[in-house]
Amino acid sequence: MQLTDVTRARRTPGLVVLEGFHAVKHALRFGGELLGAWTADAVALEDLRDRLAPDVALPVEVVALDDLKRVVPRGQVVAVARRPTQPDPLTVLAGSGHVVLLEDPRHLGNLGAAVRVAAAAGAAGVMTTGRQDPWHPDALRGSAGLHFALPVHHLRTLTTGRRELVALDPEGEPLTAATELPAAAVLAFGTERDGLSDELLGAASRRLALPMTPGVSSLNLATAVAATLYSLELARG
Ligand SMILES: C[S@@+](CC[C@H](N)C(=O)[O-])C[C@H]1O[C@@H](n2cnc3c(N)ncnc32)[C@H](O)[C@@H]1O
Repeated sequence: MQLTDVTRARRTPGLVVLEGFHAVKHALRFGGELLGAWTADAVALEDLRDRLAPDVALPVEVVALDDLKRVVPRGQVVAVARRPTQPDPLTVLAGSGHVVLLEDPRHLGNLGAAVRVAAAAGAAGVMTTGRQDPWHPDALRGSAGLHFALPVHHLRTLTTGRRELVALDPEGEPLTAATELPAAAVLAFGTERDGLSDELLGAASRRLALPMTPGVSSLNLATAVAATLYSLELARG
């Protein structure tokens, strides 16, 4: 594969484009299969690797800076990986840990940040609905490539298996240290502007709110995912 193939790879269903050092590093660390990686400054990249990821071998090809910038205006390194085959949603739902469900997230940076914290906090997987491909390069950049660390699914229809569906909603009952939840629920978060749909709120067994100072309407989506996962994790002790 050549650097000039990256543009086509963005539109190829079985491939994903990784932009930036951390995305490439995490993809490799969590078993991603790289088909090609390019940089214009091998010395700087090697220095980053030595300092931040000595465990990872970065097989990069050196190209002219102008050629790299034409493909990734901001990136120091770009790579193409095979999009991992995802397990069936029911397999993910049968795993341990909470599943994060993002209903129609619009902002790819938020989506990626939610995947990142889900991976860090030991979630079983992330499921999304709606128009965005959760494996879009901007989402991968937002997750720093941690899509490769856990299953990330785009659902056509809402599936929760045997798990309790819990809605995170600023209008819900306050989430406290005493809140009891099963160790493996589906935690649903709504779209950035409008929150959860009536359909999803109706399907949930309960609605929980992260307490906020009076006058604050809501948290950013990815921040809400992070605060929820870590509150529940800390409450488990
Ligand atoms: C930016 S908020 C959406 C704001 C929307 N106007 C609303 O009222 O839900 C995106 C999502 O983050 C979650 N969220 C934000 N703040 C929250 C809070 N204080 N408690 C629980 N969930 C929250 C909810 O799932 C919400 O749908």
